[in-house]
Amino acid sequence: MKKFLIIGNWKLHGNLNFIKHSMQQLIFYIQNNKLLYSELSIAAPYTYLHYIYNNIPDKLFNISAQNVDIHTIGSYTGEISVYMLKDIGVKYVIIGHSERRLLHNENNEVIAHKLSLVKSVGLIPILCIGETLCEKNNNQTINICINQINTIIKKYSINFLKNIIIAYEPVWAIGSGIVPNICEIQKTITCLKQYIKKISIDIANSILFQYGGSVNFNNLDQFIHTKNIDGLLIGKASLDIDLFIKIIEKIDQKLIFIHRS
Ligand code: PGA
Repeated sequence: MKKFLIIGNWKLHGNLNFIKHSMQQLIFYIQNNKLLYSELSIAAPYTYLHYIYNNIPDKLFNISAQNVDIHTIGSYTGEISVYMLKDIGVKYVIIGHSERRLLHNENNEVIAHKLSLVKSVGLIPILCIGETLCEKNNNQTINICINQINTIIKKYSINFLKNIIIAYEPVWAIGSGIVPNICEIQKTITCLKQYIKKISIDIANSILFQYGGSVNFNNLDQFIHTKNIDGLLIGKASLDIDLFIKIIEKIDQKLIFIHRS
């Protein structure tokens, strides 16, 4: 059974105290309330990933990296390779987050290269795609998203999309408190799936789609009930650990209801 993938993206936040406290809370919650229908991953800053991994009992949840370098070894001061991430137990690697695209000038070519490296070592890429507000207002959403995916297909092959996760994150929804209409999200994801299906049905069926952008406790329900959304990438609301646990609890309980009905 495919589980609903919840990722807490802690970005450039936290310190060792926050990490320890959050770990204790998450472990206590999950040990007492097994996650039956969802999987939890924490995308903490690099510096804390190994500590977190070593302190998760019984694989109650797993860890994700927020980025990776395009090089695998050598004189690249300050960078981290896919081998290093694999070495310390990372499962998922977020690539192409809009904050990296905008603030670190990462283009589709660079992101495609990173995706190929992540795949080559057997880790699972979470490919973030999404349009800016200006692109949305110009009815460019689908074109922009297809273009972001197409670079990978053209540069490598459709096979590089096998079993990956695509996180649809409209840039204007990230951290803004504004969430697109759920029908728009569903339409975009459906169009992307159809586009990939025309090239390979198998590959399209192997991809999980997440939504990300201002998800919080109060707007959660619509995402859980929407066909084609297989998980959520949660930033700000995952930093308040009590709130994040309430979110996880709500998701898993709603999923129990959906699976039983
Ligand atoms: P947000 O961030 O939930 O704070 O909007 C989501 C993300 O950047 O992945």
